[in-house]
Amino acid sequence: MSYVSEKGQKDGKPSYSKGLEGVIIGESKKSFIDGERGYLAYVGIPIEQLAQNSTYEETSFLLLHDRLPTEKELYEFRNNLYIYREIPDEVYSIIINSARYGVSPMSLLRLAVDYLSIFDEEADIHSEELNYRKALRLIAKLHTITAAIGRAIKGLEPIRPRDNLSMAASWLYMLKGEIPSKEDERIFDIILILHAEHEINASTFSGRVIISSLTDMYSAVVAAIGSLKGPLHGGANEDVMKMLWEIGTPDRAEEFIARKLKRKEKIPGFGHRVYKNYDPRAAVLKSIAEKLAEKNSDVKNWLEIGKRIEKFMIENLGSKGIYPNVDFYSGIVMSYLGIETRMFTPVFATGRIVGWVAHILEQLKDNRIFRPRVIYVGPEEQNYIPIEQRG
Ligand code: ACO
Repeated sequence: MSYVSEKGQKDGKPSYSKGLEGVIIGESKKSFIDGERGYLAYVGIPIEQLAQNSTYEETSFLLLHDRLPTEKELYEFRNNLYIYREIPDEVYSIIINSARYGVSPMSLLRLAVDYLSIFDEEADIHSEELNYRKALRLIAKLHTITAAIGRAIKGLEPIRPRDNLSMAASWLYMLKGEIPSKEDERIFDIILILHAEHEINASTFSGRVIISSLTDMYSAVVAAIGSLKGPLHGGANEDVMKMLWEIGTPDRAEEFIARKLKRKEKIPGFGHRVYKNYDPRAAVLKSIAEKLAEKNSDVKNWLEIGKRIEKFMIENLGSKGIYPNVDFYSGIVMSYLGIETRMFTPVFATGRIVGWVAHILEQLKDNRIFRPRVIYVGPEEQNYIPIEQRG
């Protein structure tokens, strides 16, 4: 693996690392990953502690301000988010109308966030204060948008946000029309916390690259959504659930995976560019699934299949650093909450929006436009041939 010195040079030559593996693209205070020991912390706080004790609102403050809030600050922050949750009628309409064409939920999300920018008069004005406000609005409104998408794809009318509910409870309420139990609210809160931030992954990097030209924040978030949509990134959680369905019963797990591996196919929910050990987010989600399995037979079945896949994969590929990632157990927990598979990646985005905007604000604070190079491997200099002389 190559590395990049301060000026992107190695031994006097531009360095190259496919997929930017191991390349440092900047500094960040948001999160730290130690891939060798499977460790993740947001602003220094281990993810397990946040999942145990924090809320999505508090974690969002942490990521935006690089510190935990006081009680008063959290109260104000929460109220701001709750007030910003409403979206224009036109945005609901574009979601409902476009859903009729069978567009994927992530494409609907990309479209709706882009459209939302039209209603933000401050979209193209950069100032620290305005950008911070835009970031809060984007967090709050993206939650409303994804919930509305969850209903629109089933031909249901959207449900507007309610001010007196937490971000987690409000999302489940907007999706299903019922105020969730305290237990479901807490499980969803943890899902949002676990997805809130993850260093410089493909979607966050996309957002930072886009904002580095000093364009508007909506453009950067739209790019991040487009990146997250892919099956190598946020789309893997949906593929995991489809795989569990296809397998159906625990006794078929090993044979199914062995066949896939023989065909050199990747197993969704396994492997990571940075983690070469157990993704700590997967461990938290697995332990939630384990508790739910005690009272829910579907969860029990999916979890049993999942555990057998995990054992088989670690036995066969653990030496290569292939372990479950965040997407492996999240679908089982989301299914328990009544969230359908095609909404898994939008749920990921619903958590991750705060990480995206936190990185975008961080990039703006100390910006330099991203402008890397490629190694030219095309033809050597040649003369232009007029079209009538070409063979
Ligand atoms: N199943 C089987 N083998 C795998 C898997 C997998 N899921 N992931 C990696 N490998 C193998 C590769 O075949 C390769 O083997 P080789 O050295 O014999 O050729 C080796 O492990 C390294 O894999 P790369 O693909 O080079 O790793 P890279 O860092 O480029 O990709 C990625 C990481 C995209 C996550 C990959 O592991 C993958 O495709 N996983 C499945 C999709 C997935 O779960 N994505 C979600 C990631 S987490 C997130 O974005 C939220």
